[in-house]
Amino acid sequence: MAGSWLERFAADERHPTPCAGFDVDEALGAYDRLLAAFRGRVRVQYAVKARPDDELLSALARRGSGFDVVSPLEIERALGAGCPPRSLSCSNAFAGRDELAHARDRGVLVFTADTPAMIERLAAARPAASVFLRLAQEHVTGAAIPLGGRFGCPETEAVELALLAAARGLDVAGLSWHVGSQQSDPKQWERAVGSAARVARRLRRRGVDVPRLNLGGGMPGTYRSRTPSVETYARVILAAVDAHFPPPHQPELVIEPGRALVADAGVTTASVKAVVRRPWGTYVVLDAGLWNAGLLDNLCGIEYRITYPGHPDGRAVRPVTFCGPTCDSLDSLTAADSYRAPVGLAAGDRVAIWSTGAYCATSALVGFNGYPPVPQFVHAPPR
Ligand SMILES: Cc1ncc(COP(=O)(O)O)c(C=O)c1O
Repeated sequence: MAGSWLERFAADERHPTPCAGFDVDEALGAYDRLLAAFRGRVRVQYAVKARPDDELLSALARRGSGFDVVSPLEIERALGAGCPPRSLSCSNAFAGRDELAHARDRGVLVFTADTPAMIERLAAARPAASVFLRLAQEHVTGAAIPLGGRFGCPETEAVELALLAAARGLDVAGLSWHVGSQQSDPKQWERAVGSAARVARRLRRRGVDVPRLNLGGGMPGTYRSRTPSVETYARVILAAVDAHFPPPHQPELVIEPGRALVADAGVTTASVKAVVRRPWGTYVVLDAGLWNAGLLDNLCGIEYRITYPGHPDGRAVRPVTFCGPTCDSLDSLTAADSYRAPVGLAAGDRVAIWSTGAYCATSALVGFNGYPPVPQFVHAPPR
């Protein structure tokens, strides 16, 4: 059978539905494309929260990636997959004493803070740790999942926090931010880099250097709405860095992609359980949905691409709403009537839901309405 592993997986009827496939090679390809787009000027720290499969983490570690981790379990997963402790960076700015002690005992050296309390906790738990100060992104637009609110501090506070960190003997690693997940507008990084440059200038005047910028995550997966290419993101971001940080103050760059590396490396297959025709619309009930397949991004307006392997011509179509199997009205995969599905789509037919590699495996509920998380098949290159 021709095509990529994902295409073959989606077409392979030997896998009973619902199930999900993930191709580590595709994720490695995305990693390579991202590094090439940034012309080798960034160090990647894969955000483990997007999916923590051992095969993926160990393959990325062999490729030279670092890892953004949040919790003791994520640290254990990464170490268990063979990622060295020095490749881990803990971005949890609300980590408690126990979590910091665990990270210290496992050899994690790099952390994130955006409050004085976190600086104090960190200095007590992990003397001489390196710390990124996270800047707020309150005016960001273009993200399906904004990350403002409790995340990040204003510029003036970042200056004070950096001075506090230095006074407590911590190493100021640099400034970090996140312009929101599935960020469709590369220009949002321009604003963030500009903000970081203002903070860096003020810190320089106070004798504190900003050696690194952490550009965060946010680059998109390929869902139904179109987004720019990775090359466009890289061009816009590097131009902003060069404009705002002219020599001799050029910082090292770190990037923390989750979605951009793994979303397109996953597919979920499902079967049609029922086609329900009502006077107000047609509902296609699938055996995979929001809760058992972890397609929760749909709640934030992300719509997955859906294909119909048994209906290749795709000419006679009608508007439908796709739903999951549970008896819960939230378990709806698409906005009302937003998809055009083949008129002949019937109970028993299979569908493929694309770009389900990010956040789905980790978001599936353990058994809402008695439907367990869909099984995950991970395809990894031989070591
Ligand atoms: C600190 C941090 N870095 C990286 C990521 C990954 O983001 P994305 O999947 O949008 O690339 C997240 C996601 O929430 C995050 O909180």
